[in-house]
Amino acid sequence: MLLPLPDDLLKVPHRRDVSFARLTTLGVGGLCHWLFEPTTEAEAQAFVRACAREGLPWRVLGGGSNLVVLGDLKLPVLRLALPKEARREGTRLTAPASHGHIALAEAAAAAGLSGLEFASGIPGSLGGAIRMNAGAYGREWVDVLTRYRFLTPEGDLVEKAPEPGEFRYRWSFLTGGRVVLSATADLEEGDSVRIRAQVAEYREKRGTSQPLSKRNAGCIFKNPPGLSAGRLIDQAGLKGLRVGDAEVSPEHANFLVNHGQATAAEFAELMEQVRLRVFEIHGVELEPEVEMWRE
Ligand code: FAD
Ligand code: EPU
Repeated sequence: MLLPLPDDLLKVPHRRDVSFARLTTLGVGGLCHWLFEPTTEAEAQAFVRACAREGLPWRVLGGGSNLVVLGDLKLPVLRLALPKEARREGTRLTAPASHGHIALAEAAAAAGLSGLEFASGIPGSLGGAIRMNAGAYGREWVDVLTRYRFLTPEGDLVEKAPEPGEFRYRWSFLTGGRVVLSATADLEEGDSVRIRAQVAEYREKRGTSQPLSKRNAGCIFKNPPGLSAGRLIDQAGLKGLRVGDAEVSPEHANFLVNHGQATAAEFAELMEQVRLRVFEIHGVELEPEVEMWRE
């Protein structure tokens, strides 16, 4: 039992009992009993310091677009609510972690800065995208990231340039209580019309290959080296496989979609069935890309 929470933690703006269905794109999950939404870096730091001092486990949430939450969570959840302002200096664009990811790609396009076109269809927050080293169409965040700021698990502020080993395919070291606060992309001067044309092309590709009209969490499994998880699941004949209202998308087999009333347990069960069947048929162990949270 985590209560009572210390007074300095309770000074950080927070809400009680918010449904994870509202906090995640998949639209499932129980209640978030304590949702802390700091509006300044100092408040975020106070949150992390208080949790570290008390030995409280906690989690950090972005846009919830890569997440399945099983049941209620009593532990404190941090969701940054820093002012969503992007700052341009030359070809560099800096934004707080709470900035919308697609909105940042759009801001870059509007400013005639090229390099974030790949990000234009990836939902969630900038912080989540840095943590996941999100990518598409042959580019990923580490290709443009030039500096970033984060809190250590003890609440100390670090600002640095990325170094080898810190980021790889759909992974970064920014886990385990590290909180991304802001990031700077080094972009190139470009022509807004061309940039927008590239964005439109990527959106068209996405629109025709991914089930964007139904709630989902993007690709459920990472692509194994040299292979496509979507193709493996498809070849295993699993498109349309259903557990309750959770379904393997008939459009793209690595997307699971919510037909409306699905539960997190149904998604977890469907993921397990897909994983086992792909292993039986192809002998390949799929690794989840989505995060699974449980108390
Ligand atoms: P969340 O889902 O909230 O969290 C994901 C992880 O990041 C969690 O571990 C969380 O603790 C951590 N996190 C969140 N914020 C922070 C922070 N400030 N500091 C430290 N850790 C943090 N992904 C791709 O890479 N490429 C794609 O093409 C792509 N397409 C998608 C399409 C759709 C329709 C959807 C729904 C998802 C897609 N995704 C894709 C997955 C998802 O959008 C990305 O992983 C995204 O970057 C997650 O960001 P988020 O803010 O939603 O993170
Ligand atoms: N394919 C099938 N059947 C399917 C789905 C795909 O045969 O049901 C085949 C396609 O025909 C294609 C190959 O598999 O030959 C790859 O498919 P696709 O081009 O859709 O790309 P992907 O590898 O499935 C990856 C990322 C996506 C990203 C796209 C575009 C992963 C796990 N997925 O998908 O990222 O948007 O490329 O760059 O790396 C995400 O990470 O959440 C995500 C959506």
